[in-house]
Amino acid sequence: MSTFKDKIDISRLPKHIAIIMDGNGRWAKERGYDRIYGHQNGVISVREVTEAAAEIGIEYLTLYAFSTENWGRPQHEVDALMELLIDTIEKETPTLNKNNISLMAIGDLSRLPLEAGKKLNKCIDQTSSNTGLNLVLALSYSSRWEITNALKNISTDIIQGKLSQNQINDELIASYLTTKSIPDPDLLIRTSGELRISNFLLWQIAYSELYFTNTHWPDFRKESLYEAICDFQNRERRFGK
Ligand code: IPE
Ligand code: IPE
Ligand code: MG
Repeated sequence: MSTFKDKIDISRLPKHIAIIMDGNGRWAKERGYDRIYGHQNGVISVREVTEAAAEIGIEYLTLYAFSTENWGRPQHEVDALMELLIDTIEKETPTLNKNNISLMAIGDLSRLPLEAGKKLNKCIDQTSSNTGLNLVLALSYSSRWEITNALKNISTDIIQGKLSQNQINDELIASYLTTKSIPDPDLLIRTSGELRISNFLLWQIAYSELYFTNTHWPDFRKESLYEAICDFQNRERRFGK
């Protein structure tokens, strides 16, 4: 049986894939479980999809794990998500090293619970010399927060004379975003059938190819990623030209 993986043209891979991992709650509810059970199963997809991306040589994989707006969920769900984050990061560090994956994070990390922040930084540190896939976790992230923050820093630098107004262009703005060392996503995937962006990478996805699937995140596994990449490779990117 031929698989989607076999159909991928390795010479034309998207350099950066970003994913809005959605549908954990509905996945659990459909099975008669609590939403938390969906998040737990979502972690298995994170592991599989990360491995799938590393296996074929994707350079950047950004996962939207927790949005600024998600702080507004019931406290027990926020707590469970933070606990899952701490647990997973700690358990997965050896596997990341084994697979030559380095971890990065974008978002307002100062809002994370102390313990989560510490574990996150430790894992980032311990995987920083890996040269394969860059796994970027968007945590306490929202694009409007990021752009607002960039504007504050740009204006501070202008007031302090480090920057002049006529230096402001596309590139300069990009360099003030938390994604400054990361290329723009070529492919943005959202699971679970919702057709929206939910405050994710608004600046960076200007010319990304968008891919929506009805599959809930806990059911999105290796072949689902490869299917999305095949779809991407059948598109013509024109960039307005
Ligand atoms: C995505 O699944 C995970 C997070 C946003 C943290 P949801 O929790 O949004 O699940 P649904 O969309 O309610 O099904
Ligand atoms: C987007 O999903 C955020 C993450 C996947 C982390 P949400 O479930 O929070 O978004 P909405 O509420 O459906 O827009
Ligand atoms: Mg959701």
